[in-house]
Amino acid sequence: METGVKLFALSELRERDSVRFVLPDLRLEGFAVRVGEAVRAYVNVCPHRTQPVDVGDGRLWLPNGEIECQAHGARFDPLTGECRGGPCDGRPLTPLTIEERDGEVWLTSAVSEPHW
Ligand code: FES
Repeated sequence: METGVKLFALSELRERDSVRFVLPDLRLEGFAVRVGEAVRAYVNVCPHRTQPVDVGDGRLWLPNGEIECQAHGARFDPLTGECRGGPCDGRPLTPLTIEERDGEVWLTSAVSEPHW
């Protein structure tokens, strides 16, 4: 029996793009990014002032490969969620535990302790 919640089809997520999705039970949004073959997903809430990091307008990615909150410019490592600069002030994104299954991406455990 499969456990978890299907979030999106892997084919929807292109490199230097993002996919946003609703997190069941939490009424929060998540977003996922792809770097090469690596897929990472985070709660779409910035640790600075709890606004969405990814607003879905295609401006998430910076030319240097970091991702940037569109509200006030906090910058994060897309592979780790670590704060790389700006008003996140060392606080990382909240990661989601995901798994790829036959071309689909699934949320496999509850959201960990939020960083906001
Ligand atoms: S809410 Fe993200 S930088 Fe301020």
